[in-house]
Amino acid sequence: MNNDNFLHLWPSIVARFENPNHNEIKGGLLDFFKEVRSKNPVGRKSYENKKLYESTYDMHSKNNIFYQELIKFFQTCFLKSSLYSFNTTVKNKKLNADDKFKVSITNSWFIEYEKGGSVLPHTHGNCSWCCVYYVQIDDSSIDESGNTYFVKPFSHNNLDDFGSFSYNSFTSFSHKPKEGQLLIWPSYLVHGSVASSADNNKRIIVSANSKIFKI
Ligand SMILES: [Fe+2]
Repeated sequence: MNNDNFLHLWPSIVARFENPNHNEIKGGLLDFFKEVRSKNPVGRKSYENKKLYESTYDMHSKNNIFYQELIKFFQTCFLKSSLYSFNTTVKNKKLNADDKFKVSITNSWFIEYEKGGSVLPHTHGNCSWCCVYYVQIDDSSIDESGNTYFVKPFSHNNLDDFGSFSYNSFTSFSHKPKEGQLLIWPSYLVHGSVASSADNNKRIIVSANSKIFKI
């Protein structure tokens, strides 16, 4: 009898989703951001942010129907990511069909990039899963500009053999944004954004942090 078995311990799952209602909410989101920015033209400042406007972290508490619809989409996808991660990696526990969950949004904010704007490598605190949603991007970019990147969470050993290829072959992953797309990742992953070549305020994203509870 063959007793071989292979555990997938602590995998770094990055999930990608497309919002089918993006075109219906995009205009409303842009108007909402313009209104927020007019009331707080300086925005939030942090060391990682270069040449960009960042809103405060409480956008999900504001009563805007377009933003609230986006938050609902985030909650659905956060839960899907969490369930996928649980079902593919936690082998000694099972979920029941009638289990219920609550997806709590702990922070959410938007960023409008200036030309050359970027975000240095960082992680998000006080959450289990994080996300970025591409509200508007520059389709003409053909290089890495404006890409979201993730850094491998363990050290590289400079091996060159086939055996280590699956876990040592690259030290970062660079994702080309697509309008209406949502990326979700576990909060420990270091990430950032490559300097954007798009014109001022053309590249616009929403980010959010979540905690997911079984109720
Ligand atoms: Fe981030």
